[in-house]
Amino acid sequence: MPAESEKPDKPVIIITDDRRGTRHMIRNILAPDGYHLLEAENGREALDLYNSSQPDLVLLDIMMPVMDGLEACTRLKQLPGGNHVPVLMFTGYDEGNEVEKAFEAGASDFINKPVNGEELRHRVNRLLYLRKLEVQRQAAEVKLQSSYTTIQSLSRKVLNAYEEERVRLARELHDEVGMALTTLKLNLQLLNRDLSDKGFAHEERLKSSIAYINNLISAIRNKAVFLRPPSLDELGLVAVVDNMVNELSRHTGMGTALQTNGQYEKLPVEIETALYRCIQEALTNVARHASATNVSVKLDCNRQDVLVKVTDDGIGFDPRGDSDTVKHLGLQGMKERVALLSGDIAINSSPGKGTEIIITIPLDGYGDGKR
Ligand SMILES: Nc1ncnc2c1ncn2[C@@H]1O[C@H](COP(=O)(O)OP(=O)(O)OP(=O)(O)O)[C@@H](O)[C@H]1O
Ligand SMILES: [Mg+2]
Repeated sequence: MPAESEKPDKPVIIITDDRRGTRHMIRNILAPDGYHLLEAENGREALDLYNSSQPDLVLLDIMMPVMDGLEACTRLKQLPGGNHVPVLMFTGYDEGNEVEKAFEAGASDFINKPVNGEELRHRVNRLLYLRKLEVQRQAAEVKLQSSYTTIQSLSRKVLNAYEEERVRLARELHDEVGMALTTLKLNLQLLNRDLSDKGFAHEERLKSSIAYINNLISAIRNKAVFLRPPSLDELGLVAVVDNMVNELSRHTGMGTALQTNGQYEKLPVEIETALYRCIQEALTNVARHASATNVSVKLDCNRQDVLVKVTDDGIGFDPRGDSDTVKHLGLQGMKERVALLSGDIAINSSPGKGTEIIITIPLDGYGDGKR
């Protein structure tokens, strides 16, 4: 097949008929419209020409020696790109149900013999116009696909940067702010001891300052853990989810249950982090919006995929409702994380019926131990 640059600017048409007279007659009808016209004597030759000339339209007579038009059309449709190249068939009035056979073989249109010049020109024109639209559609699809790939890779970068930033913030909060507060607390404790040794009566105020700092230290620790639980690396997903579920129960009084199946040690970090973030968002949503009595989390990991299901018996909502991603980022973020890992997410909810979020991520051999 010639490279795109070798293709003539004019539309290329293959005229296939075993009778030279008919080919010449068709050539004479179409020549004034400025096409690049090629000729083939039978179906076999038409296919060879198709492979070497990237035609925009193929005209095929049905009755021909070597290979007839119906077989040539069927084969052409199976060649690379053949499905998008229109075929116009010539059918005789007396050839039985040839028209039906022509469409079955994949022809785009047919014309009766003897060929009427005006009719042929109009049909050729229309088929070439449709072909042009199809080429434009294909080009737009390629562009769309490439934009989608770019968006996906940008999304992945943004999520990675977001994770790295959270890790950095968590470390700074824990190491720097936490350490500074601990030092301050120790200093105050020493000061308190010195002052009470010397009989000064500042004990109460100092004690309350120390208690205040203590609270601050544990609040900061909680925030750091929320940003990036160090335990995700140390303890693994199941233990961290267990902690999250217990915390939720402690803070809200909700009934909670966690059910897990399978091994999680060898899950790739990317998948582990995404699942953790999705469960975190789902549970935060339950706490913030659901007014639920019970929430359950199910984790099921096998060699093919890992499944997460978070179910609550709260007020539910319409998942097709307010999708303003400026106001509501949580569910959208979940969908993006799952899509980046080629997974599926279903958000099943309706008012008064509770909410169920089901996520499945394919593992594609990760279960074999890669990490
Ligand atoms: N479990 C749930 N029960 C009831 N309503 C829910 C639940 N989960 C989500 N919703 C509804 O869906 C909306 C969108 O949730 P989403 O997590 O996308 O955004 P958000 O929680 O409002 O804000 P954020 O961006 O902070 O997550 C919520 O505002 C809430 O109305
Ligand atoms: Mg949310």
